[in-house]
Amino acid sequence: MYMNIRYNGPGLSDYYSHNRFKYSHFYPSERLALELVAPGPTTTILDIGCACGGLGLALNEQFGCWQYTGLEIHAHAAELGGHLVERFGGRVIAGDVLEGATLLEPARTFDLVVSLSALDWNEQIRENIRAAWKYVVEGGVLLMTMRLHPHICLEKIIDSCQSTTPSLGGGSELAPYIIMSVPKAVHFAKSLGATQVDVFGYWGSPSATARTSVKECIFAAAVLRKGLGGNQHTKFVVHSPPSLVEQVRSIQTKNDR
Ligand SMILES: C[S@@+](CC[C@H](N)C(=O)[O-])C[C@H]1O[C@@H](n2cnc3c(N)ncnc32)[C@H](O)[C@@H]1O
Repeated sequence: MYMNIRYNGPGLSDYYSHNRFKYSHFYPSERLALELVAPGPTTTILDIGCACGGLGLALNEQFGCWQYTGLEIHAHAAELGGHLVERFGGRVIAGDVLEGATLLEPARTFDLVVSLSALDWNEQIRENIRAAWKYVVEGGVLLMTMRLHPHICLEKIIDSCQSTTPSLGGGSELAPYIIMSVPKAVHFAKSLGATQVDVFGYWGSPSATARTSVKECIFAAAVLRKGLGGNQHTKFVVHSPPSLVEQVRSIQTKNDR
């Protein structure tokens, strides 16, 4: 049985009810990925780790989306988020992505499953991504962010972590600060059976509140497309940064030999 941490630290809901709720608040790489997907009023959206539903408000403002379901493990953030998104017809459900099958309508799938800084903000990163992928309808997409490094992989909270309340100067509740190596991320994306993976990334320093040995990593927003009819060959289209374009090309060339 896979377990995630059930966050309840104070400060998280306060931070996310006042930040990241307008489209302009989101990072350029996140906006590029969203604009590639270009959701519209008919797009059904599941936002995993939605905090207080800020992305729902931003997608409603920018693209007119309203068929929005947020899923959030922090009960108080979920409660606040539910009130904030109900003004345009959205909803937020409290719970873990791994329990989604019991929380959402049975066998429910979505055109766009989005998760910004959330699938990798808990213990079971791989199971969390696999669970998120199941909610993508055939022909739909999973848009997720993650941190990458050319070769270092830090997937355990003991090796790399961050306070869940950085806005308060860092409380004692910790979340993993996962950094995945590029070869492992490429392998994992292929194992999901994505038909195409578009990536927008940039190099940056880890958050000042993170306790990690990595000095620089790539902050990446990835759009994984689910083809019709099961597993297929995965095409990678890396837009930035140039070092990632080169590394993924060389991994692909080696694999094709
Ligand atoms: C770093 S915050 C990002 C919030 C929001 N997605 C954003 O980008 O503004 C990560 C959020 O994911 C939630 N979360 C972490 N693990 C989760 C899980 N397994 N299921 C649902 N939510 C989760 C956390 O409680 C937190 O609110």
